[in-house]
Amino acid sequence: MTDAERDAIPLAKPVIGEREQQLVLDVLSSGRLSLGPRLAEFEGAFAQRVGAPYASAVSSGTSALHLALRAVGVTDGDEVITTPFSFVASANVALFERARPVFADIDPVTLNLDPEAVAAVMTDRTAALLPVHVFGYPADIPAFERLGLPIVEDACEALGAVYADGTPVGGRGHPAAFGFYANKQLTTGEGGMLTTFDTEIKARVDSERNQGRAADMGWLDHDRLGFNYRLSDVACALGLAQLERLESMLAGRARVASLYGEVLGTIDGLELPCPDADGNRRGWFVYVVQLPRGVPRDDAVRALGALGIQSRPYFPAVHLMSFYRDRFGHREGEFPVCEDVAARSIALPFFPEMTEGQVERVAQAVAEVVRTRE
Ligand SMILES: Cc1ncc(COP(=O)(O)O)c(C=O)c1O
Repeated sequence: MTDAERDAIPLAKPVIGEREQQLVLDVLSSGRLSLGPRLAEFEGAFAQRVGAPYASAVSSGTSALHLALRAVGVTDGDEVITTPFSFVASANVALFERARPVFADIDPVTLNLDPEAVAAVMTDRTAALLPVHVFGYPADIPAFERLGLPIVEDACEALGAVYADGTPVGGRGHPAAFGFYANKQLTTGEGGMLTTFDTEIKARVDSERNQGRAADMGWLDHDRLGFNYRLSDVACALGLAQLERLESMLAGRARVASLYGEVLGTIDGLELPCPDADGNRRGWFVYVVQLPRGVPRDDAVRALGALGIQSRPYFPAVHLMSFYRDRFGHREGEFPVCEDVAARSIALPFFPEMTEGQVERVAQAVAEVVRTRE
């Protein structure tokens, strides 16, 4: 192992303490490992945190998105408009329902789906809009609402974010999907949550995540198609402990972001995440920078790795992934803003307990890589 490998700064690192261990151990010794009391507790506490009346815990952010699309009625042959600058799941979920994901370009500043570009690709087959709060920055939901179609919010990266009107993301009324993978603001290892204001959606999602069984039915009785998208009580216990420390973890991420802003702001041509504007507040999830044009992204990632700094191209454009090219014939040039941003974007190490020294080491490495690759 080289010195750089030994001292490598990881991309992400969850904060797991004694409280998480205690709550998980309690579940293990209770014998109620699934569909036990921690499920409703976690859902209730989460709903309260984002200001939604209901929340349903599920096995992943992807399953939350899938059930949300079903809940707003997306079906065979429909079109769902979403962003090509996202994690692949936000487009894939339309395909789960044999609907077509239709992409529209992004705003170059917020990196979120551009409402005007969405309006331009709407057809009479468009059944829903699926904006993503990319890197935790609130998408322009009021502008999408004016387009008059059902909305599913991909808030998988946006726990802790606040819309311009002061409402927490997830608490505006549309079904919103959150993800709890290990790198997220709150983790249950794997997991997700769907928030809603609608009692019928809550009942449908609770049934569909549990093989299509209504709350008042017998164990092997099913009145609709369902899935196994349940979240175990072990994971819910972990989630409850994480919720208790959420504010301090969010504050930790915001602190690291502000340190990054100071030290990276001096590197010529490097573009940093947009500052909060118009009342929108980012729920910090990742720290993604756009390299100056002319610095090859993949070379930069390799060079940073050699200096002991983990980084990752994030996001690659979804429409240019081989599956999407092969299936839908997408090609370069269709979404120029997304393609330009995606070709230059890398995620840097980012976690609540990152030290000032680590941030400085990353910044020095980025400065060196940018200088020598230009
Ligand atoms: C924007 C976005 N959507 C959806 C997902 C899917 O979440 P999960 O990995 O929990 O299924 C993620 C997770 O990485 C994401 O970042």
